[in-house]
Amino acid sequence: MEQVPLNPSRYPTVDYEEVMNSDEGVRKWTDNIYRWGFSLVDGSPATPEATEKLLERIAFIRHTHYGGFWDFTSDLSMKDMAYTTQELGAHTDTTYFTEPAGLQMFHVLSHTGGSGGASLLVDGFAAAQTLYREDPDAYNSLKTVLVNAHASGNEDVCIQPAAPFPILSHHPVTKELCRVQWNIEDRAARMDVDAATLVKWYDAARKFNEVLKRESMERWFQLKPGSPMIFDNWRMLHGRSEFTGKRRVCGAYINRDDFISRYLLLNKGREEVLGKI
Ligand SMILES: [Fe+2]
Repeated sequence: MEQVPLNPSRYPTVDYEEVMNSDEGVRKWTDNIYRWGFSLVDGSPATPEATEKLLERIAFIRHTHYGGFWDFTSDLSMKDMAYTTQELGAHTDTTYFTEPAGLQMFHVLSHTGGSGGASLLVDGFAAAQTLYREDPDAYNSLKTVLVNAHASGNEDVCIQPAAPFPILSHHPVTKELCRVQWNIEDRAARMDVDAATLVKWYDAARKFNEVLKRESMERWFQLKPGSPMIFDNWRMLHGRSEFTGKRRVCGAYINRDDFISRYLLLNKGREEVLGKI
């Protein structure tokens, strides 16, 4: 696996104008996301309208019970921790959907009268690789034991996936790790396994949590107006530090299949893509 350089001035970045005005810009952008799990965009207007149009250069926005394109402050308008000022540990979003959101973007539009609110990314594939190296039994437990999740903070919603899922999902043919789903708040208590398997799973989960929290795994960003960040929600965990003041953030989800379609066609060309089907 390629390692992202740790110098923040070298983090994968594309230019807003290039993305908006050329498919070559979108090609570079989607290649960054596919390769590194995330990308920044430089020079975007700090408005929800421009951010939404920017996202639509990859694909249409995925709507959820939170709406389509969000533009929010910490007002607890939704009963979810994202809408508070609290610290959020590294997690993936929408584990409660049968198909979790593929990409997620955050654009900090303004932050006034306070400080904090740095954004965190942790490469879930790198963390899983570390777990595999240090404790293969724990890895196997997170690969095989199925968990449930739910979104039921709001009175009129109780979303659950069609089937339970492992924390570490593997491609059935290539056997490669293809998705990490880690969200302690959304995980359901119910697990349909015997007690011994359950105890082992909790040990494995504790170990994975410890790996995820290592300083060497964490990448912190102080996002600024004009520099939205987008990441692969099937690979990268995200979080943020506590903050004070008023912070306005907008963003949205994009489906994984639509992202991969755009990535493949722009980076490989239609002929090569169709040749492999
Ligand atoms: Fe989140």
